[in-house]
Amino acid sequence: MRVLVVGAGTMGHGIASVCAASGFEVDLVDVSEEVLDSAKMKIGWSLKKLEERGAVKNAMEVLQRIRTSTNLAECAKFADFVIEAVVEKTEVKKEIFKILDENCRPEVVLSTNTSTIPISDIASATRRPEKVAGLHFFNPPVLIKFVEIIRGEKTSDETLKKTVEFAKSIGMDHIIVEKEVPGFVVNRINVRVFNEAVRLIESGYRPEEIDAVVKYRIGMPMGLLEVVDFSGVDVLYNVIKELGRRGMDVEVPETVRRMVEENRLGMKTGRGFYEYEGFYSRAKILPKFAYRLNPLNLIAAGINEAAWLIRNGVATKESIDKAMVLGMGYPKGLLEMADDFGLDNVLKVLEGREADPLLKKMVSDGKLGKKSGEGFYCWKYDRKEFGPVIYEKRDKYALITMNRPEKLNALNEEMWRGLNEAFIEAEKDPDIRVVVLTGRGRAFCAGDDIAVMGSWKTFMDGKNFFTSVAVPLLDTIANYTKPIISLVNGIAFGGGLELNLAFDIVIASEDALFSVPEGLIGAIPPVASSLGLAVLGRKMVRYCLTGDQMDADEARQMGIVDIVVPRDQLEIAGVEFVNKILRLAPLSVRAIKETARAYRSIFGFVVEKGLHEIIELIPTEDFAEGMRAFVQRRRPLWIGR
Ligand code: NAI
Repeated sequence: MRVLVVGAGTMGHGIASVCAASGFEVDLVDVSEEVLDSAKMKIGWSLKKLEERGAVKNAMEVLQRIRTSTNLAECAKFADFVIEAVVEKTEVKKEIFKILDENCRPEVVLSTNTSTIPISDIASATRRPEKVAGLHFFNPPVLIKFVEIIRGEKTSDETLKKTVEFAKSIGMDHIIVEKEVPGFVVNRINVRVFNEAVRLIESGYRPEEIDAVVKYRIGMPMGLLEVVDFSGVDVLYNVIKELGRRGMDVEVPETVRRMVEENRLGMKTGRGFYEYEGFYSRAKILPKFAYRLNPLNLIAAGINEAAWLIRNGVATKESIDKAMVLGMGYPKGLLEMADDFGLDNVLKVLEGREADPLLKKMVSDGKLGKKSGEGFYCWKYDRKEFGPVIYEKRDKYALITMNRPEKLNALNEEMWRGLNEAFIEAEKDPDIRVVVLTGRGRAFCAGDDIAVMGSWKTFMDGKNFFTSVAVPLLDTIANYTKPIISLVNGIAFGGGLELNLAFDIVIASEDALFSVPEGLIGAIPPVASSLGLAVLGRKMVRYCLTGDQMDADEARQMGIVDIVVPRDQLEIAGVEFVNKILRLAPLSVRAIKETARAYRSIFGFVVEKGLHEIIELIPTEDFAEGMRAFVQRRRPLWIGR
């Protein structure tokens, strides 16, 4: 089989290389010998690299399968399949398609790599529009093994089938784009997300903050603006301008227009969204920049565009997700991410803008994503209540919510037992790989229920309560085989703080408050035990001795909290961490949990030792007075004694 590749520039030389490496004879055509020589050199260099990596067996042999020529009409006569990749100018492409049509055998498929020009426009230059299709590669084609195959207005099913077969034969995965909308699937979504990034910059975010979200939270290999700087701000400028001109409702943002005017084109001019000193310099995108911006603010516009594509019959949800993963390096499909984060949250972010009717309908139908069992996709879902504890199975993770908001989710007997049952439920469900715990209302958990503690009169009352009610949950957690993420949504006092020491990842909302105020009511915080202080350090003594509250940042410095996020990002951050854990090998996760058990058993001792000390305080007058004073909302008598 002979493949004719027209245009030997950035894309054409790469496409020729891919075809030759797949065993095809290739004719590569361009306007001058000079361009062709340079293309052959680049192909030789890249094949050599591929050979070194073992991706190509014999670079020389592959190279010999590529013949170059400036005579399009002549090469067209021998072609079995044609890929056009010349400059993005309609007149030039039409001229080429006319020549191809006149010289290729009638059954030959003529495909175009155009990014923005309608296929039918190009096809109109031929007498075989049914044999013309879009075959849109991504740069560089030797590495990105994915194409969009576009059906023009007149493209026949047979042509589409042949194009799919050809794509497969050169090792490319593909999606079908059923309608030739400007930008097809990937570029349309990219442009929306990029324009959103620029809008965020215009509203005060720094490029590093946007790219840190993209790299460290969404999980893409490079930052979005970093990639634009790499490929050229002017390239994107032209794409957006062209898509706008062709009817997509996008405009080049003012910032980008100015950047192009000022020659801030990215790495090639030393300045773009970032500054570059020398060819090897890179943007400094650090994880610490990642938690100011809500990732949904960035991708919601892309999700909205995807909804438009589905609603207009351009591509299926599966195709869109596949395209973003294979073409753009998204860690998972965009629509799966939408289901993860919750479509209600997507809609909230889009507030004030034109949300796609499909998204609005899904939300009003209660199709919110994993949290309701159905969004763009269907997910395993289950909901149960264990007393004041709500248990939800959300596909691969469980969300456990302490639901006693009027009592600040205080730990009474039902709460202890409910939590234990919910954790056991998640532990025994093989689908569940991560557990997330949070509280409803303004508290995470205010600690032990004073009403319960106040009813204890003797040692034994407290001891019985702890051994029969609290210890089973502590045992369950200490031996848990699945990672536990805690989302501290508000106050976490006493036991509500201490429970967090046993969890694997603690994410706190920036308005969360922590304290161990047990001394104020005649008890002792378990973390005040010698082991507790050994784990948390000397600084904790101050909080035990005063009952002072610490904010989320202080709690992070104390090692109680891992990540602090703005309030509106708590739920999303939880989902992100679930997804991060799900990327690990299950056996690795299990082994990590197993080794971390040593730490969790220290926690067990801390609590046990602490409980022991509380129990010792129960028969004292201070304890009784503390409890009375708390219930009567007055100062305990020992103040001023
Ligand atoms: P380029 O400018 O690097 O290469 C275009 C080549 O076409 C040049 O070598 C030029 O000499 C040649 N050419 C111009 N007129 C010709 C003619 N009459 N006959 C034969 N050759 C002719 O452009 P690039 O980036 O390779 O883009 C080519 C096509 O691929 C465009 O349609 C573009 O939209 C599309 N594309 C580009 C991508 C990219 O990342 N650069 C990605 C996907 C598609």
